[in-house]
Amino acid sequence: MSERLLQDARIPPRYAQCGFQNYEIRNSTQQAAVYICQRLVEDYPNVDRGLLIIGPCGVGKTHLAVATIKELIQRKLVPCLFYDFRDLLKEIQDSYDPLSQTSELRILAPIYEAEVLVLDELGAAKPTEWVQETMTQIINTRYNQKRITIFTSNFLDISTSSTKETLTDRVGERLRSRLHEMCRLVVIEGEDYRFWRR
Ligand SMILES: Nc1ncnc2c1ncn2[C@@H]1O[C@H](COP(=O)(O)OP(=O)(O)O)[C@@H](O)[C@H]1O
Ligand SMILES: [Mg+2]
Repeated sequence: MSERLLQDARIPPRYAQCGFQNYEIRNSTQQAAVYICQRLVEDYPNVDRGLLIIGPCGVGKTHLAVATIKELIQRKLVPCLFYDFRDLLKEIQDSYDPLSQTSELRILAPIYEAEVLVLDELGAAKPTEWVQETMTQIINTRYNQKRITIFTSNFLDISTSSTKETLTDRVGERLRSRLHEMCRLVVIEGEDYRFWRR
């Protein structure tokens, strides 16, 4: 049963082995992040908010998002789905049929309906009007149905310098506020794991 759910979750092979047990904790923000993710699994289905995992590249945001849904699947048999936001946009674009919009819905239906969804790399796509609209539609649909979503983003929530783009710059103020309403904010700091030297 959980094998089937794991297959259906579309976890990228690169992240297939990611779990809490092989996530190295090097600072307090990582420790807090692991705690919050594990807590979500523990408490599920009695949770009313998803997660908005934010931090620089390579700190393990995707790793922890995957670890969380893998445990939800294995321990609680929750149907989960993983999608990289840019891949999703690409699939929607590729499926676009000018005559009808049904193909778009064919791609989006599982996104709307997944009990727990990971939307990886939110804000990474260039925020054109169409991207904004699609993002809004997805987030609002999940919000209205009170579904749990785990977002990751490389964009900081609050600007630390005037030159750095923030999540607000990428998704707009309305969506940012909606994200905060439906998610618990998890900020991870640290170096890119791939460049760590021991
Ligand atoms: N703290 C960590 N402990 C173990 N592996 C990690 C850790 N942080 C990142 N990794 C690994 O490094 C790679 C990049 O991590 P990833 O989750 O893609 O980072 P992010 O999504 O924050 O950019 C992955 O292979 C991931 O498993
Ligand atoms: Mg990532």
